[in-house]
Formats: sequence, C-alpha cells, structure tokens
Amino acid sequence: MKRVFFKNYELLVYDSVYEPHEDSFLLAETVKVSPGIKALDMGCGCGIQAINLALQGAEVLAADINEKALENTLENAKRLGLGDKIEVRKSNLFSSLSDQKFDCIVFNPPYLPKSDLKDISIEGGLKGFELLHEFLEELPKHLANNGCCFFVQSSITNERKTKRKLKQLALSYEIAARARFFFEELIVFKVFL
Ligand SMILES: C[S@@+](CC[C@H](N)C(=O)[O-])C[C@H]1O[C@@H](n2cnc3c(N)ncnc32)[C@H](O)[C@@H]1O
Repeated sequence: MKRVFFKNYELLVYDSVYEPHEDSFLLAETVKVSPGIKALDMGCGCGIQAINLALQGAEVLAADINEKALENTLENAKRLGLGDKIEVRKSNLFSSLSDQKFDCIVFNPPYLPKSDLKDISIEGGLKGFELLHEFLEELPKHLANNGCCFFVQSSITNERKTKRKLKQLALSYEIAARARFFFEELIVFKVFL
C-alpha cells in the first residue's frame, strides 16, 4: 500500500488501485463546487476526487468498476471524517446509476491505448479515447439542470476528436485548465448541457 498527500490530507492507495498523478491533482485543483450539491466521482480510484468534492460540502457518489477502488475510497473517506458524505457503488460507467442525475460529475478517465498491460485504470480502449466517448454519450442523461462535468484529457489521446464528439452531442464546453508535463499536456474540460 502507498500513501500520497492531497491538500495536507494523507490518502492510502491500495496496490491494485490507481495512484494519483498529475492528472488527478490538476483535476482536483480545478473543480470548484457549491456546498450541498449532488456530485458523482466516476472512476473514483482511491477517492481523491470524491474527497475533494466532499471537502467542499458536496454529497458524493463515488463509482468504479474496480471493487478495490470502492473499498479504498471508503477507507480514505472514513479516515478523514467524510464517511457520511461519500457513498460508493460498483458500476461500469453509468450502468448501475439508472436514471440518477447529478449537479456535478467528475471523471479522470483511463486514456492510454490498449496494451499488453491490460490495466483498466490507465487504458481507455483500442485507441485510448473510446471509454471517454462512451461516457460522454451517456453524460447528458445524468446531468441535472444547470449541471456540469469536469473531465481530463491528455494530448496522448485526440483532443480534436473529443471536441468533435462534444459538438456532435450538442454539449457546450470550456477549457477550465491546461498544464504541460514532461511528455504530455493535460487539459481539463468543463462541460455543460
Ligand atoms: C485514471 S484512474 C483515476 C482515479 C482517480 N479518480 C484519480 O483521479 O486519481 C481511472 C479510474 O477509472 C476506473 N474505471 C476504468 N474503467 C471504468 C469503467 N468502465 N467504469 C467505471 N470506472 C472505470 C478505474 O478502475 C480507475 O479507478
């Protein structure tokens, strides 16, 4: 098990769970929400985004396809006294969320092209963007009126294709943050209905 720090809070990271990296921290630093909103952390990993949302007063549902990620998120939430703010649910994207709607949805998707690693926490499909596109297709059904979604995109996957997909789905967006790291540029999209 590893330990990472986020805003001076120590987070445990289980062995089979994604360890927060630059993408996680950039997304968390960018997301600002109002207290009391209903939020979804899609692909919660160790729970860094859920914790960031709960620290701002949101009621959070944290979803992941990996059961260990759910256990990890719950343990971190409880250690930080946020156990009553964060619920977890196993879900393949929105499959277990039926018609639930959220004021804010946050997603740091796996975005690397498929490889021999077979690691669902970093591989987003054959070319890397397929899981994100699947998520975007379902997104409008799960955003409340005036809701928004923050997600991360890497220059490793195709930014132009993402913009085209958002246009095709009639979703408005702005670039909420951009940061260059040594082998990629990370972009945080903020999407509106
Ligand atoms: C890059 S990690 C992000 C983890 C964490 N949110 C963060 O910011 O550090 C992607 C997460 O998405 C989860 N994931 C992958 N495929 C998924 C799917 N189809 N449905 C839900 N979660 C998925 C992985 O298990 C992993 O926890």
